[in-house]
Amino acid sequence: MRRTITLTGTLLLGAGVALAQNPQEQVDKTQLAMKSNLTSAIALSDIAKDKKPYDQAAVDKALAELDDVAKRFPSLFPESIKGLKPTKGEYYASPKVWTERADFEAHSATFVKAVDQAKAKIKDANSLKAEFPELNKVCVGCHEKFRVKG
Ligand code: HEC
Repeated sequence: MRRTITLTGTLLLGAGVALAQNPQEQVDKTQLAMKSNLTSAIALSDIAKDKKPYDQAAVDKALAELDDVAKRFPSLFPESIKGLKPTKGEYYASPKVWTERADFEAHSATFVKAVDQAKAKIKDANSLKAEFPELNKVCVGCHEKFRVKG
């Protein structure tokens, strides 16, 4: 557990956490956090697909990164960025993030729980293979409603 805490500390810089000065900057920072989710998910899925051997340190790092983003999710989508699109990138947030806020926050809370569950259950390659699809479902579940292809 101690390792997770240090890792999260260093991650905060990488994912661009601090709230941005202006809305467009926030949109781009939010997108960096989304890309961090992708990097973490790939690290886990590579092991799940036997492309890489099981590596507890890599798993802990990916889960710590997901945890960091999951906990900050609602704050990554402040009202000020409604309707804005990232400077670069394939996807942007649907207006539903703001018009159906309670549901968006419920999906965010589900994500936090799914990461907690993954942290508790993933101990080896078999448990990772069992748990990864559950986590992935939470990503897809939110994207179906709240992410739009640009
Ligand atoms: C609570 C909702 C929610 C959850 C859960 C969620 N996402 Fe997203 N995701 C979004 C929204 C909204 C966007 C669009 C905003 C953007 O791209 O900046 C997005 C965008 C993305 C993008 C596109 C970034 C780009 O380049 O435009 C990727 C990749 C991504 N998410 C991966 C993931 C992965 C992997 C997970 C699960 C581990 C996940 N997301 C979980 C809401 C969610």
